[in-house]
Amino acid sequence: TSIQTFIEGLPKTELHLHIEGTFEPELMFKIAKRNHLKIDYADVEALKRAYSFNNLQEFLDIYYAGASVLIKEVDFYDLTWAYLTKVSGQNVKHVEIFFDPQTHTDRGVPFETVLYGIYKALKDGQEQLGVSFKLIMCFLRHLDEASAFKTLEQALPHKDKILAVGLDSSEVGNPPSKFKNVFKKALEEGFLTVAHAGEEGPPEYIWEALDLLMVTRIDHGNRCLDDPKLVKRLAEQQIPLTLCPLSNLELKVVRDLKEHPLPTMMAHNLLVTINSDDPAYFGGYMNENYWGLAQALNLSKPQIATLAKNGFKASWLNNDEKQKYI
Ligand code: ADE
Ligand code: ZN
Repeated sequence: TSIQTFIEGLPKTELHLHIEGTFEPELMFKIAKRNHLKIDYADVEALKRAYSFNNLQEFLDIYYAGASVLIKEVDFYDLTWAYLTKVSGQNVKHVEIFFDPQTHTDRGVPFETVLYGIYKALKDGQEQLGVSFKLIMCFLRHLDEASAFKTLEQALPHKDKILAVGLDSSEVGNPPSKFKNVFKKALEEGFLTVAHAGEEGPPEYIWEALDLLMVTRIDHGNRCLDDPKLVKRLAEQQIPLTLCPLSNLELKVVRDLKEHPLPTMMAHNLLVTINSDDPAYFGGYMNENYWGLAQALNLSKPQIATLAKNGFKASWLNNDEKQKYI
């Protein structure tokens, strides 16, 4: 079989996915219309033409604008359901997805509206599509820690639905240390923790995520390679990195997929995984991310299979659930 067919057939996980980043232009226009809201672009084609980014911030500006048409619980349901049907068709068996409550609560959308819409779709996806899930609530790091604390308070009655907290948005200038108190409280409350670190920011941010936020995974982590001591730590502790190849290309974290750090990371025995980040904006879901990287780096079938297995290893499935796949 071809590499492409091999990738399609592999059971996969998705561990780095912003649900707001799955908002396809067609659905965006549909939901805007039923909410009587206007989008700044004439049509789907014009909107898609705006998807050209020089860095993370240029993307975030468009991503937050897109999310602003999500108002009702059914909007969040439809968004999440569209994503699940898409990846279930790509043989994704398990997802651990992010949502950004502050993007919505700061516009007056109630926390529960957001959470219930997403959660009900995830439940239905588990039952009807056989895709298991965990939910991660991210704090926006360009906002202050007080706002993150308020968001954590809103999550406390929903520990049955939210397993972990994470940290995303504009990285440079917003180090993990800015959020050490709210992560400490989240840990005391029993949440697992993850953080975006080393996407555009320096290795020091990865150290902070590990030592101050006590993360069990690093989201991205590309820049760990600048620091040999850090690489050694990540390898020894087998801390997973959730890499996002097409995101890295589109946000100019790498110039070309041929220059992606994954092979160097694998050579250092890092636990690397492939994920899609914001697939509606970066031109590909899971299979496209595997395929783009496999093509650019000439990955072998055993290497690709290892990456897919790493996803299960790095997940929060229990050992019995993992055993089926690794
Ligand atoms: N929010 C959505 N995608 C993101 C990314 N790649 N980095 C930081 N924040 C994000
Ligand atoms: Zn991300």
